[in-house]
Amino acid sequence: MFPQIVYNLQQLLSTSLFGLNIMAPSPNSLDILDSQIKLEFKDAYLTKLNQFREESQTYWEFSIVPGMFKQSDPETDESLFNYLDEHFGKIGTWDDIVSQLNILNAEAEPNVQYKILYLFRHYAGYHNLAHLKYGNDAWNEYWSKINGDGEMTWGPDANLTTESVELAKLNSRLISKELRNNANGDSSLIAPQKLYVSPLSRAVDTLFYTWNEILDLKLIQPRIQENWRETMGVHTCDKRSSRSIIDERFTHKGFQIELSLTEEDELYQDDYRETVDEQAMRMNSALQQLFTECGRNELIIAITSHSGSIRTQLMVLGHRSFAVQTGGMIPVFVKAVRNEN
Ligand SMILES: *[C@@H]1O[C@H](CO)[C@@H](O)[C@H](O)[C@H]1NC(C)=O
Repeated sequence: MFPQIVYNLQQLLSTSLFGLNIMAPSPNSLDILDSQIKLEFKDAYLTKLNQFREESQTYWEFSIVPGMFKQSDPETDESLFNYLDEHFGKIGTWDDIVSQLNILNAEAEPNVQYKILYLFRHYAGYHNLAHLKYGNDAWNEYWSKINGDGEMTWGPDANLTTESVELAKLNSRLISKELRNNANGDSSLIAPQKLYVSPLSRAVDTLFYTWNEILDLKLIQPRIQENWRETMGVHTCDKRSSRSIIDERFTHKGFQIELSLTEEDELYQDDYRETVDEQAMRMNSALQQLFTECGRNELIIAITSHSGSIRTQLMVLGHRSFAVQTGGMIPVFVKAVRNEN
């Protein structure tokens, strides 16, 4: 075995559960690399987006309200940012932010809505360990295409590591504490009213361990939707389990699987990896659906997904790029305008 490597991985991925710092670490260099989008993909996305807008009778157009969360400020250094140390990144008090959210919605034109979305990234899975162990090039060229290396298994549908599950439970208590950080200590003030999640196990498990002690998941029924999943194809960790397995593992915990999710993963291809602009169009569809199906009284919504998914969600919403570590979260204050052709 390689004790030195294991030790470094532990340092990079989680922090001592028995030490003082139990928070998720700041983003590492791979997280930062993964959060950036090349200009050619931005341009390709804009071309597709324009076409989508021309072909749709109505569509939502998204932008970010500045001055609410530090993460939207171009000056904020993402490499040092930890959302739990920073009270999620709020600027001012939660009472002020929620009061702004209510006032903006009350005064908005009928075709305009404001919501706060919490974009959560899953905790580290075995594929994240392997990515660090082998480095970016060897991972992308070789290891990501097979299911494991004899020491670890990461495909199909990589699981959270056992350390990640413990870290998620510990961080859940810090989130719970933050929810009471307002004038009345009212934990429902900034709690999400609706939860969405990618169908990949690491995302569903992250949602479960994050919220199970805080919210009644059987009542809130988090929605498992295909569109939130990670970049599709080639990497075995991103191939999902069958609908029956997802159903067996998560329905009894309160999760609701969207009707259109097929039994087998028909979207995964061994020999084609989805491009960034293609993934961005999926995130656009998912966000269009979210704003159409959520009511005017559902103002705070949590989405648990992946580094690639969050990277493109931020682009689609008009937010600056911002690296999110495994187990991290970025809140975004979104203005959505419904246009008609
Ligand atoms: C993930 O965990 C489940 C249930 O514990 C197990 O059946 C499955 O084989 C694991 N998947 C991988 C890729 O290790």
